[in-house]
Amino acid sequence: MELHGATALVTGVGIDNLGHHLVRQLIERGATRVYAAARRPENVHVDEAEIIRLDLTDAASIEGAARAAADVDILINNAATFAGDLNFIDADLDRVRRLFETNFYGTLRMVQAFTPILEHNGGGAILNVLSAAAWSHLDGVDVYGATKAAGWRMTESLRHELAPRGIQVSSLLFGMAATPTLRAYADAVAGPGVMDAMMTPPAEIARIALDGIEAGRSQILGDRLAVDARAALADDPEPVVITSPRVVAHGVS
Ligand SMILES: NC(=O)c1ccc[n+]([C@@H]2O[C@H](COP(=O)([O-])OP(=O)(O)OC[C@H]3O[C@@H](n4cnc5c(N)ncnc54)[C@H](OP(=O)(O)O)[C@@H]3O)[C@@H](O)[C@H]2O)c1
Repeated sequence: MELHGATALVTGVGIDNLGHHLVRQLIERGATRVYAAARRPENVHVDEAEIIRLDLTDAASIEGAARAAADVDILINNAATFAGDLNFIDADLDRVRRLFETNFYGTLRMVQAFTPILEHNGGGAILNVLSAAAWSHLDGVDVYGATKAAGWRMTESLRHELAPRGIQVSSLLFGMAATPTLRAYADAVAGPGVMDAMMTPPAEIARIALDGIEAGRSQILGDRLAVDARAALADDPEPVVITSPRVVAHGVS
């Protein structure tokens, strides 16, 4: 999908975060119009962008965005809420629901609202920003990771559902980008600056994401952590045990 001449909408645009760099680079690559969607529009600092106020937990807000940006042919679902102190066993279920409400249901609502628009505009592309946390365990991050794992399944399914309608669907997964949200989390858990060397600049993740859309890639891996997390899925956590004559290795004969 060519970005030059495209009209894009990016959610979750804020100060020096991934959404900010996606919007800037879309403009640099020649997108004709870029909508920067933000819950707090005062945090959007890209002069050439058209700002749209958007709260993913509010269906009316999403419908309004779809009315205001009916010329879009690239949708980037980047907005999400992070939680670094939430494990399953003692989780406050209202907090779990709120995370899913934004990260999973908000993204799904956006896809449902914008699919007819993309189709009407000739197809186009959807990129869902996920996380290597979908594929790996990290204490305190796993409920957030579950929202991204659900998003991964949704994205893989949408790729099949929307191919006949001419819409390219991709996911972006990475481990650590040096955005204000992630830096604050890393500094709190490991100490100021300790994890800086593991983080990729958000501008670099944005570049990889946009290259991936242009190349038509379905799964875009933004850093080494995501590559390793995906590879680790193939690791066998336990020796193979044949538990019944019908069960051979991990399959059923
Ligand atoms: N940074 C990383 O290391 C990392 C790693 C893996 C994946 N990711 C993913 O990459 C994306 C961008 O992350 P980031 O680090 O740039 O985080 P961020 O700065 O916290 O960006 C998230 C954006 O989403 C917005 N948002 C949250 N809830 C919303 C809602 N209900 N409606 C509308 N907007 C909402 C936030 O707005 P407010 O400022 O108003 O809260 C913020 O602008 C996210 O999907 C994140 O999960 C990040």
